Amino acid sequence: MANTSSIISIFSVVSLVILSNISTTSAARAFFVFGDSLVDNGNNNYLATTARADSPPYGIDYPTHRPTGRFSNGLNIPDVISEHLGSEPTLPYLSPDLRGQKLLVGANFASAGIGILNDTGIQFINIIRISQQLENFRQYQQRLSSLVGEAQAKRLVNKALVLITLGGNDFVNNYYLVPYSARSRQFSLPDYVTYIISEYKKILARLYELGARQVLVTGTGPMGCVPASLAEKSRDGSCDPELQRAGDLFNPALIQIINELNSQFGSTVFTAANARKSHMDFIANPQAYGFVTSKVACCGQGPYNGLGLCTVASNLCPNRDLYAFWDAYHPSQKANRMIVSQFMTGSNEYMNPVNISTLLAMSEST
Ligand SMILES: *[C@@H]1O[C@H](CO)[C@@H](O)[C@H](O)[C@H]1NC(C)=O
Ligand SMILES: *[C@@H]1O[C@H](CO)[C@@H](O)[C@H](O)[C@H]1NC(C)=O
Repeated sequence: MANTSSIISIFSVVSLVILSNISTTSAARAFFVFGDSLVDNGNNNYLATTARADSPPYGIDYPTHRPTGRFSNGLNIPDVISEHLGSEPTLPYLSPDLRGQKLLVGANFASAGIGILNDTGIQFINIIRISQQLENFRQYQQRLSSLVGEAQAKRLVNKALVLITLGGNDFVNNYYLVPYSARSRQFSLPDYVTYIISEYKKILARLYELGARQVLVTGTGPMGCVPASLAEKSRDGSCDPELQRAGDLFNPALIQIINELNSQFGSTVFTAANARKSHMDFIANPQAYGFVTSKVACCGQGPYNGLGLCTVASNLCPNRDLYAFWDAYHPSQKANRMIVSQFMTGSNEYMNPVNISTLLAMSEST
């Protein structure tokens, strides 16, 4: 008898520990990610597309030292945000491992190559466009509901942090993809920005409809200063003014729709990150941030290592932490950490209207 009861009490201690672990896991804030290659954690590995990062040296500094589909030498922007939340990295929506308790962590719906517009990235063939990413989010919520019930699923989604990164490809892989592109013949640059921003507003409103309540929206980075732009367009190593102008038009227009949506919904749902400014800090003064260069990519070939893809045959720098850019378009893990640090705690120069620590604290108190 005594034996049985001590066995039972051991069991109840064990199950209490297990139960409290489960409740801590479900209390941790979930994280959902939408967008393009800057935030794709590996969805494109499951697709027949040319936009992929599933071969070495991608992932060389990831904990496994293997390519994962992330467009980084190591962690990407969502991974660093997950660290700040105290969570494991989000799994790609298409990963077979995304099931059971893993659903509570959140999910990554992003797909390299996509943009705001459906015709952006068509050359990559089979990618998950933003409307399909949102549809996948709806389907994810049904799976979550069958696991934890509808009320708790809704609560988890409402409490979650959401990241959306779109827009760069609408310039680089659409408007400016080729001279006299269809979109550039259809629209002047300012009219094109007005058009894609009006489409972006619908996408953000749909995210709200689907339950998102704390949403980080990143503006476009310094598109004219990435190694690819320097290699293709610059004679003297200075940033391409036309692509920089595109960002100068896009980013303030993005802040404006975010302010409009927040007043329409009556609360601070969306906050815009000035990704351009957080990049420009280390582009303008790489040495101050511990980089040897912000012009030359670590992995690539041609001028600035900015031409073609990063492959096993490319030049590869020995110390990735000394480079602001990992490949022709994407920041290194080290740069990603600096960028996310501004998202979390940056001043109003970087974040409009609030930084993420403030956004999350606001939602704790409601
Ligand atoms: C993009 O495609 C989706 C699905 O076909 C459609 O619902 C949406 O309206 C399209 N967006 C634009 C801007 O044409
Ligand atoms: C950003 O975050 C820090 C706390 O980490 C806070 O002190 C600061 O006031 C915030 N800035 C803005 C603009 O919200």
